[in-house]
Amino acid sequence: MNKKYLSKTMAALMLCTSFASFANADKPTVKIYATGGTIAGSSESNMDTTDYKAGKIGVDLLISAVPELKDFAHVIGEQIANTDSNNINQNILLKLSKAINLQLADAKTSGVVVTHGTDTLEETAFFLDLTVKSDKPVVIVGAMRPATAISADGGMNLLEAVRLASDDDAKHRGAMVVLNDRIGSAFYTTKTNSTMLDTFKATEQGYLGAFLSGEPHFYYEPTKPVDKPYFDISHVKQLPKVKILYSYQDQDPALLHAAIKDGAKGIVIAGTGNGSLSDVMLEAVKETMDKGIPVVRSTRTGNGFVTPKQEGIGSGVYNPQKAKVLLSLALAHGDNLKTIRNYFEN
Ligand code: SIN
Repeated sequence: MNKKYLSKTMAALMLCTSFASFANADKPTVKIYATGGTIAGSSESNMDTTDYKAGKIGVDLLISAVPELKDFAHVIGEQIANTDSNNINQNILLKLSKAINLQLADAKTSGVVVTHGTDTLEETAFFLDLTVKSDKPVVIVGAMRPATAISADGGMNLLEAVRLASDDDAKHRGAMVVLNDRIGSAFYTTKTNSTMLDTFKATEQGYLGAFLSGEPHFYYEPTKPVDKPYFDISHVKQLPKVKILYSYQDQDPALLHAAIKDGAKGIVIAGTGNGSLSDVMLEAVKETMDKGIPVVRSTRTGNGFVTPKQEGIGSGVYNPQKAKVLLSLALAHGDNLKTIRNYFEN
């Protein structure tokens, strides 16, 4: 897309802002929290789907670019951040979760949508799933193509996310991920492909539902994952540091020691296979656990379960990035090693 076309597009989008600001009080209220990402990304070229800049378009423009939103909901927007999702940090997560808990307590609000970069979307979605106490839908949405691309996916994804957040059938299902016409549980869904549109999947657990002409359809009655924990973060100001290490042949424990020295209060290792580690690593894990620092052993395979362990803690269903979120919430909650082991190995 050349500069002239881009500025014309922006002007057209700005013109539409007036549509979005019309009150639509007879419809359910949906609040959109925008954090950036590709869904708010823009590029000079309409063919560019990899080298664009994420987090360029503000929430008002995102909303006004899809005037159809107002047919389904009274939409309000708030800009929480506008960044590549690799810059989402614990301050943003805590602020977002606290704001959503307050918003959903409002009787007029039917649900919330979070627009987010796809790279770390699953971490935010999982964090919200474990920290928002409401039966109302929390929908996390992104896009794989920037807003300036030919056949950009963000507009339809946003419309579907808002329709889901305003739908009574979406209650009691925890946080959900919406992309590519699919509804996934935030608990299980992960990003499985670096560039393709059909990247968000829960290979073992599947999807909760799909959209047909933008309308959500569920495959199951409301249900929740087995042993899903909840953490009250209303008084949490800081999350303890948890670091992730990656396993490979001939790994030595130098980075594990460095992480502890750097102040890590917990460690997750993306082990091989069923969370396996070399003998020297097992010894270092044992020593670390003996000092009271939890070490969770997940898997670098991208799928499957990690069974309970003697040295360290088997991660169960949690991939390394989700295990890190859960471990830091458990540490913030002041849980001891036995309780932490139960979250993962039960
Ligand atoms: C990001 O995660 O912010 C960039 C990539 C994307 O949104 O797809």
